[in-house]
Amino acid sequence: MTDFPSFLSTLRPQVDEALDRLLPAAATEPAAISEAMRYSVFAGGKRVRPALVVLAGEACGASLRDLLPGGAAVEMIHTFSLVHDDLPALDDDDLRRGRPTLHKTQGEAMAVLAGDALLNQAFAVLAAEPASASPERRLRAVRLMAEAVGVVGMIGGQVLDLEHEGAVVLGGRSGRERAAQVLERIHRLKTGALIEASTRLGGIFAGAGNDRSKLLGGIGAELGLLFQIGDDILDEVGSSEQLGKTAGKDRQAAKLTYPHLFGLDGSREKARQAADRCLALVEKLPARRRLFRSLVAFLVHRGS
Ligand code: IPE
Ligand code: IPE
Ligand code: MG
Ligand code: MG
Ligand code: MG
Repeated sequence: MTDFPSFLSTLRPQVDEALDRLLPAAATEPAAISEAMRYSVFAGGKRVRPALVVLAGEACGASLRDLLPGGAAVEMIHTFSLVHDDLPALDDDDLRRGRPTLHKTQGEAMAVLAGDALLNQAFAVLAAEPASASPERRLRAVRLMAEAVGVVGMIGGQVLDLEHEGAVVLGGRSGRERAAQVLERIHRLKTGALIEASTRLGGIFAGAGNDRSKLLGGIGAELGLLFQIGDDILDEVGSSEQLGKTAGKDRQAAKLTYPHLFGLDGSREKARQAADRCLALVEKLPARRRLFRSLVAFLVHRGS
């Protein structure tokens, strides 16, 4: 199988099975929180990050079985980030993955707590699974993810994203260049850090050495930037039905985004540049190159 969409549709049920096994059962008391976690996880995400863990790990020789728990943990972290991103205190969104957001159905307190619980469950999984991995590998996985979600990672990126809402881009070349630098940093942190950690995580379970790990990190970092530029473009051009989340929110909240700074064509060009940098790195992988190339094309052309 060489095309990413087919790879993803075969993998998705396996990821969902791992998530089902690794999340608290719906009946686990207090059931309200266990159900809330499951409501957001099983709302129908694309599962791109688990696919990256698997692709990167398989490219370096790990087995699917050893990669699925890490993939599920990353999806828990990603879902936590969405639940909190949608809260009224952050982006204030009513729709996510085609359903009302968790705070809309269960209230803000439960959404805050379900996000916290998902993040913690992810670390419990990374510390324990796969049982076949050495404790040293599992410790490296925990540290990698903790750093990726932290201040010089997703949380830092979310803070910068909020701080730059409504920011006025100063005129002239230097003003725009400064804004472009900040914007790239926001995207590399808020979205890129977890995607980079996903490819690196696959490498850890494959026992990748320093050079391989750096290569996987470079691929993930460019994919992450490409992913968030695409997300910004879709917010402008997509419909809420197509995206499963409210379209046009970035403009409404005056977010600093690629379309805001570069226009749609300029944003597509920036996405293409990130894709090209990624493709150059993909050629250095020992295996799975065709699937990675297809993944890049999927991210360049995705409609949701
Ligand atoms: C949306 O991520 C949020 C970003 C970090 C851009 P996805 O587009 O992967 O969302 P799901 O998981 O498919 O819902
Ligand atoms: C999401 O960025 C980044 C994280 C959730 C960490 P956005 O705010 O653009 O994501 P959407 O568009 O709401 O999915
Ligand atoms: Mg946001
Ligand atoms: Mg948002
Ligand atoms: Mg967005």
